[in-house]
Amino acid sequence: MFLCLGSVPGSDSNKPVDATGSQGLTGITVDKSVEFSYEELAKATDDFSLANKIGQGGFGAVYYAELRGEKAAIKKMDMQASKEFFAELKVLTHVHHLNLVRLIGYCVEGSLFLVYEFIENGNLSQHLRGSEKDPLPWSTRVQIALDSARGLEYIHEHTVPVYIHRDIKSANILIDKNFRGKVADFGLTKLTEVGGASLPTRLVGTFGYMPPEYAQYGDVSPKVDVYALGVVLYELISAKEAIIKTNDSSAESRGLVALFEDVLNQPDPREDLRKVVDPRLGEDYPLDSVRKMAQLGKACTQENPQLRPSMRSIVVALMTLSSATEDWDVGAFYENQALVNLMSGR
Ligand SMILES: Nc1ncnc2c1ncn2[C@@H]1O[C@H](COP(=O)(O)OP(=O)(O)O)[C@@H](O)[C@H]1O
Ligand SMILES: [Mg+2]
Repeated sequence: MFLCLGSVPGSDSNKPVDATGSQGLTGITVDKSVEFSYEELAKATDDFSLANKIGQGGFGAVYYAELRGEKAAIKKMDMQASKEFFAELKVLTHVHHLNLVRLIGYCVEGSLFLVYEFIENGNLSQHLRGSEKDPLPWSTRVQIALDSARGLEYIHEHTVPVYIHRDIKSANILIDKNFRGKVADFGLTKLTEVGGASLPTRLVGTFGYMPPEYAQYGDVSPKVDVYALGVVLYELISAKEAIIKTNDSSAESRGLVALFEDVLNQPDPREDLRKVVDPRLGEDYPLDSVRKMAQLGKACTQENPQLRPSMRSIVVALMTLSSATEDWDVGAFYENQALVNLMSGR
């Protein structure tokens, strides 16, 4: 009954349904194939050893695993799955898109474990601010923005049911071996809603990325993700954190949204825009493209959610920007061949 979820006919950016048996004759084994035993996960992670630990999030630790011949990332959550979320998980394993980190399966023995496809290159936050990574070229940044918007457009408009991510941030955009972006952790908000007494009540999301209507009144709409993606666009330009500490010794801080608003509200923002561009880009960026991305960020982070563009319009805007940026960076033309193929239906 879930089979229709992952594949919208004619949607070119869809990844074909995987080999775990969710298509064709083996359809009957679908639900079983995504449930793992604790024993299998423990074996694949060397008993959840520190050496296998690759990350730590608000809800638990992430481990590298080799599972049934596939590289995987296993999230050990500090909570158990409720009955409602258990049903939700089955649905989530059938949502497939090139720009979404795929949930391969799960395990509910003891605590809750989520098994994801392993994404080689870490998260966007590490690429923008980690000293061990090379700076991302401008054309790659535009591509990652477009990839993220596509992943979000898919869950906003093409899945049944539709999803609102609610925790879009650079740490939840993973970078694959081809430097394409994939949105992680969608569909988990229901987990925290039904998490019950084991969890302190908290607003799902991350400060600096939350729009005012959500932070103040808890109003949820797809425009929550639009706002957060706008903040990510500002991060791609500036490599600054969503909340910038203005003074090390105090808790004083300033949002990236306010910073860019000051810049963009000037009659000719170009000079000040240059000052907030990631210094690691050097001179290797077309200012016009940066300005357009900043203007898109501004549209996304407007106070009134109704004035913010839809994710679909953002995809269109970024596609235009991406094809214009290809001309600028010849190397990127070849990197973007996959997108060209996608657009021409190959
Ligand atoms: N599927 C995955 N493949 C590779 N690394 C991952 C994957 N999922 C998560 N990670 C890494 O583990 C970190 C922690 O993940 P998570 O628990 O979602 O917390 P957060 O999103 O707050 O960083 C991520 O930032 C990322 O670097
Ligand atoms: Mg995450």
